[in-house]
Amino acid sequence: MKVEDGSTLSRTDCRAKGGAPGFKVAIVGAAGRIGQPLAMLMKMNPLVSVLHLYDVVNAPGVTLTLVTWTPVAVVCGFLGQPQLESALTGIDLVIIPTVVPRKPGMTRDDLFNINAGIAVVNLIGNPVNSTVPIAAEVFKKAGTYDPKRLLGVTMLDVVRANTFVVSTSRTSLFDVPVVGGHAGVTILPLLSQVKPPCSFTKEETEYLTNRIQNGGTEVVEAKAGAGSATLSMAYAAVKFADACLRGLRGDAGVVECAFVASEVTELPFFATKVRLGRGGAEEIYQLGPLNEYERVGLEKAKTELAASIQKGVSFIKK
Ligand code: LMR
Repeated sequence: MKVEDGSTLSRTDCRAKGGAPGFKVAIVGAAGRIGQPLAMLMKMNPLVSVLHLYDVVNAPGVTLTLVTWTPVAVVCGFLGQPQLESALTGIDLVIIPTVVPRKPGMTRDDLFNINAGIAVVNLIGNPVNSTVPIAAEVFKKAGTYDPKRLLGVTMLDVVRANTFVVSTSRTSLFDVPVVGGHAGVTILPLLSQVKPPCSFTKEETEYLTNRIQNGGTEVVEAKAGAGSATLSMAYAAVKFADACLRGLRGDAGVVECAFVASEVTELPFFATKVRLGRGGAEEIYQLGPLNEYERVGLEKAKTELAASIQKGVSFIKK
């Protein structure tokens, strides 16, 4: 079996699979450090029937490592800008784990013009606080912007919050809302709203907030120049993508935190709990009651977030 461009084998598989039930998911940046484990986990997701792996390098190799075992999705590889349109055509959910480096002749708009009005887009590429506003502007220019379908992934903050709260309180299961954005002080865990209800001392609240806000930096420092929290980000991205797919399927009550276009604060984008449905983020929840510590945190988060959002918008309008 000859695989010339990395997509020959997989395209054949895709055709053979035909109308299998399940969603079509594309990963843009699939050969990267987050993209590869993300691709593996998405292939195993029973809600996914077809998985398109796009990248500007190495997509054929990554695809081949995934087409040679069965469960679950059929995997198709797409290499470079000429194949981007095919990679995104007919897709239900696009996951962008990284900001894909452009090749000569490729504009940033190329990533968003194609099929953008139809698919739900999960944006992971940092800085999420700026890349989501950038993506929104690009979609607007392309005439395909649907604010409900563009979601910045903040699930890793929620995953970390749950882990750290569990280890502090020694109880096994929590729902910890994390609002704001995805960087430093913009990551605002609402410990007063933890479910089941749990009280924390001032010291515990400060420790937990700090730890959750700096969870990414902790890994970056531990890896000492060799990258960031790629595996946990892939895990969190898959958890969030799975929630989006359950929403697209029409499941009731799928609620997760995400960084979305929002009127919850005076800022145009903000992360809160959202209800995921067939149209993407169909309902955006208010912040709920905050304690004094959280109110102070919110003000700090908004100041930094406003600057990051503005930076993104100005970047794209230049
Ligand atoms: C994370 O939270 O781990 C990621 O956003 C990566 C990073 O640079 O911190």
